[in-house]
Amino acid sequence: MSTQTGTTRPSKVTTQTIVEMKQNGEKISMLTAYDYTMAQIIDQAGIDIILVGDSASNVMAGFETTVPITLDNMIYHTSCVVRGVDRALVIADLPFMSYQVTPKEALISAGRMMKEAGAHAVKMEGGKSITSTVKKIVDAGIPVMGHLGLTPQSIYKFGTYKVRAKEEQEAEMLIEDAKLLEEAGCFSIVLEKIPASLAEKVSNEISIPTIGIGAGVGCDGQVLVIHDMLGMNKDFSPRFLRRYADVHSVMTDAVRNYIKDVKSKDFPNSEEQYSS
Ligand code: KIV
Repeated sequence: MSTQTGTTRPSKVTTQTIVEMKQNGEKISMLTAYDYTMAQIIDQAGIDIILVGDSASNVMAGFETTVPITLDNMIYHTSCVVRGVDRALVIADLPFMSYQVTPKEALISAGRMMKEAGAHAVKMEGGKSITSTVKKIVDAGIPVMGHLGLTPQSIYKFGTYKVRAKEEQEAEMLIEDAKLLEEAGCFSIVLEKIPASLAEKVSNEISIPTIGIGAGVGCDGQVLVIHDMLGMNKDFSPRFLRRYADVHSVMTDAVRNYIKDVKSKDFPNSEEQYSS
């Protein structure tokens, strides 16, 4: 496939492709998906990476945080997505408490995600504290994406979803964490809700790609939650979100029209039924 920069790359996106895109100065596009149909649409539209995020806990299961979703839930969502994808790289979040206890347990969780769900890579939140875990998983042949800045699995520690690393000390720690994750073998890192200048600095100081959400244009790629960018969640409007559609209105109108047609006996008409 020919890219915007005129280079060619194999049609299937791999972790190597992603790293090469940074080297070639091509921005990386990533969106979340949690089911077969959505994954098929996004993949066929040409997205580079599909993230089966633990945001499934919020947008699919209706929980307030990402804490309750289980590894079995994430394996189910990931297997649905994988069946819908031909080209994109599929990365699955390891959920809260499936990798924090010991590196051995983390490897078992990551292994299940690859073998049972068919994921191409896993993502984990955290910096210095997870580097030995990252090494163990990467050594077993499983690619790992890191996640720094706002890490929603730690919401009860932070207490808020506000922008992280505005203070110099936390910003310096984040840069150090990014370098440690690269050293440990991560092929890429998500930077969530941090100042744009800091994200740009991190992106310049490491050779693996950064994927930003609420982290500005200096990142090597961008990610959004699909429900948010399609305008399915009317009540969620953070500053970083750009809505590309108003699917909430489209769906509401369609359902209202259907109800009206059923009640008025307009649906089904003679062409929408079978004769004997
Ligand atoms: O779970 C998720 O959707 C994520 C993205 C916001 C990066 O981790």
